[in-house]
Amino acid sequence: MALILGIESSCDETAVALVSSDRTILSHQLAGQEAAHAPYGGVVPEIAARAHADALPPLIEAALADAGVALRDVDAIAATAGPGLIGGVMVGLVTGKALALAAGKPLVAVNHLEGHALSPRLVDADLAFPYLLLLVSGGHCQLLLVKGVGSYARLATTIDDAAGEAFDKTAKLLGLGFPGGPAVERAAASGDARAVPLPRPLLGSAEPHFSFAGLKSAVARAADSGQYRAEDIAASFSQAVIDCLIDRTRRALAQAGEATALVVAGGVAANRGVRAALEQLAGEHGMRFVAPPLWLCTDNAAMIAWAGAERFAAGLTDPLDVAARPRWPL
Ligand code: KG4
Ligand code: ZN
Repeated sequence: MALILGIESSCDETAVALVSSDRTILSHQLAGQEAAHAPYGGVVPEIAARAHADALPPLIEAALADAGVALRDVDAIAATAGPGLIGGVMVGLVTGKALALAAGKPLVAVNHLEGHALSPRLVDADLAFPYLLLLVSGGHCQLLLVKGVGSYARLATTIDDAAGEAFDKTAKLLGLGFPGGPAVERAAASGDARAVPLPRPLLGSAEPHFSFAGLKSAVARAADSGQYRAEDIAASFSQAVIDCLIDRTRRALAQAGEATALVVAGGVAANRGVRAALEQLAGEHGMRFVAPPLWLCTDNAAMIAWAGAERFAAGLTDPLDVAARPRWPL
């Protein structure tokens, strides 16, 4: 059994976790930066990097104390090495390198997307490769066939905005605040999803990809018109996103016959409507549906520690001069 310390700092959550290869989460610590970014209506990279630098050392101390372990008990240090806001990624990766160097432990440089992609296996020991993964976050909207650790086939991606980005922009347009996804979900709960006619870009299209830019523009027009309640726009928008996600995932399922399960991960997977619609789709295909708990869907370090554990078990460690990467497709 191996014990992995994971560090996440690619966007606006600073997180540290201790996870063992037998799927025990000994500690997971998270420091959000919402208050620091809220006045700007979005994440400011420079503010994020500084906040990660301030938050990481005490979070590492807290994680070790919480788990009751010393750094020497850890078998490897896993840190997000990209993709993401490069200043923040560098802070987390350099911190991971420093720990690895000081404690004489191997370093595992983790792709943040691989963290999301493997996170369902942390909570579901029965989830076997290959599985079809809908990865929906603030920066990504992809369908991946997860064939094994380090082995991913990308079946579809967005040609413009990510789904989470569309949620965040809709929240901004409707004055619902930041972060947008949860705010839109709350507003949508008291809205009518049929009240505002909105497009479903690429619905039924023979090509595999996603598109949300046209939907975002339509939401802007609906908001500007003054004709609709914010709750109704939020509900209609959410339903349009769900319809697009389901249509594209249904298309991919038809091509991924070998998949053992339909899995969703990434921040947008925290949306209850999205989860329910995907669960129904999996049911229609007689397939298992796996969705990590909400806290594991949004950015966290347990998924980075777990991806680190999977890579460490496969003998995949990295040299101390491994570079931080702002862009890093899976
Ligand atoms: O995976 P994540 O925490 O960070 C990235 O790697 O991007 O995803 C954050 C995204 C944000 O766009 C946020 O608005 C969205 O996930 N999100 C949601 C919900 N919770 C978070 N979108 C819709 N409904 C939610 N409940
Ligand atoms: Zn993420």
